Amino acid sequence: MTDRVTSVRALLRDTVERVGDRSVARWLCEVATGLDGDELTAAFDDPVSDRMVAHLDAMLARRDAGEPLQYVLGRWGFRRLDLAVDRRVLIPRPETELVAGAAIELATEVHRRAGAVAVADLGTGSGAIGLALADELPLDGVEVWITDVSDDALDVARANLAGIGRRAVNVRVAAGWWFDALPPGAMFDVVVSNPPYVAVGSSEIEPGVSGWEPAAALYAGADGLDDVRVLVAGAPERLRAGGWLVLEIGADQGAAAAALLRDRGYTDVEVRPDLAGRDRIALGRRSGTIG
Ligand SMILES: C[S@@+](CC[C@H](N)C(=O)[O-])C[C@H]1O[C@@H](n2cnc3c(N)ncnc32)[C@H](O)[C@@H]1O
Repeated sequence: MTDRVTSVRALLRDTVERVGDRSVARWLCEVATGLDGDELTAAFDDPVSDRMVAHLDAMLARRDAGEPLQYVLGRWGFRRLDLAVDRRVLIPRPETELVAGAAIELATEVHRRAGAVAVADLGTGSGAIGLALADELPLDGVEVWITDVSDDALDVARANLAGIGRRAVNVRVAAGWWFDALPPGAMFDVVVSNPPYVAVGSSEIEPGVSGWEPAAALYAGADGLDDVRVLVAGAPERLRAGGWLVLEIGADQGAAAAALLRDRGYTDVEVRPDLAGRDRIALGRRSGTIG
């Protein structure tokens, strides 16, 4: 930062010049000053401390070194939530907001009909999908399990759980390998997951992703479907009759995921696109009627 940075306004002006994007500059200044949204605007004429300037310089250096903005900021928006994120977890993506939205819609319908709903988000990472479910479903009669095989990821998810307010009482956190994390015999109306689905050795993955985000969150065997297969095979034992499995998939995996679901006897199998029209969500239903 230059010496002329004495006020919050000057800090923002200098940051815009350095990063060339007003929104990004504002987010960085919000984190550096600890002032969000209107608070930052209201403080434009306030002096900045050496600590704020040093914090901003450190963030800019990390960004210049190629670190994704979300990790530099240490937080990122997901639906209505502002989630803590760092290198222990995948950065929540906009397409995953659609996956969460599909699960929320299905769970809301069950809750409306039965007055209660149980949901599991397997491989929760930052907690994005499961915590959005807890946040957007009613307070009463809702149970949301969030699980991960990574203890590091669960530490981040727990920190985010503390930030969702009253509905945190509906969330249970568990560690373990896919369905093994769940209590024996527990049954669910909706199982949702954004599992690793990148093929090992894929040339399509960007360096900003492969170089910074956890490999355990990304790769799943030669065709990227190893974890999808495990989830499709295991979910029927954990879904109530008529319950739904909702999976995020890669853009080229729609036909394969639908075939896996049909082969395992799921009904109402569907592949939905993201906003760019690419296959993104695979859904299937355990046969039978919700009791
Ligand atoms: C693609 S990331 C998704 C994270 C988060 N749900 C999201 O959408 O942002 C996949 C997650 O699955 C977890 N994972 C990988 N293998 C797993 C396994 N065998 N059992 C449970 N979780 C696993 C990873 O640690 C990672 O957090």
